[in-house]
Amino acid sequence: MKFFVDTADTAAISELHDLGMVDGVTTNPSLIHKSGRDIKDVIAEIAGMVPGPVSAETVATDAKGMIAEGLELKKLGENIAIKVPLTWEGLKACKTLSDDGHMVNVTLCFSANQALLAAKAGASFISPFVGRLDDINIDGMELIADIRAIYDNYDFKTEILAASIRTANHMTEAAKIGADVATAPPDVIRKMAAHPLTDKGLKAFLDDWAKTGQKIL
Ligand code: G3P
Repeated sequence: MKFFVDTADTAAISELHDLGMVDGVTTNPSLIHKSGRDIKDVIAEIAGMVPGPVSAETVATDAKGMIAEGLELKKLGENIAIKVPLTWEGLKACKTLSDDGHMVNVTLCFSANQALLAAKAGASFISPFVGRLDDINIDGMELIADIRAIYDNYDFKTEILAASIRTANHMTEAAKIGADVATAPPDVIRKMAAHPLTDKGLKAFLDDWAKTGQKIL
């Protein structure tokens, strides 16, 4: 499973990228707002740091506007994936941009039917929002599994990008189901390394080591 980082925080991207944990980056208008930076400046910087796809989201609500904004964002880097919402207008924009050879990430997906339409419209990525479904008491991972089954039935090439990932457990579940990509906030990726038995075991080893009075260096 590829790891995308769901953030516009360039310091966090850089730290994870140095560890080989970043196959791409996703952003959205809320994350741009959180960064406090100009969208074009921050997206261009990220696109220069990370070779993989960097999703930059349009904000127009009509297809023509989404296409125009998408093409403008695409100027910021060859690796930009134009992000459009899963509305009827977004699907139109997806089809036009995909036909013209652009990577398109269709976002705000909450149903298998929406994912089916995005694949038909040529999306490179579909972004089902796991955490926001969990928030309303619907199992978000079930949606990932349904989309996986449907895409595999027909050999759709659209990649399943599990989004709105909130916990390390979401990452495990997405990987078990076979999501192509999961995009997670930096903290969730860091938490994947944590285990209380690792901490406990390390403490015991270090305590015993101290008792030996030895040094390695
Ligand atoms: O990838 C989409 C993501 O940014 C949404 O996450 O936590 O706001 O639902 P969240």
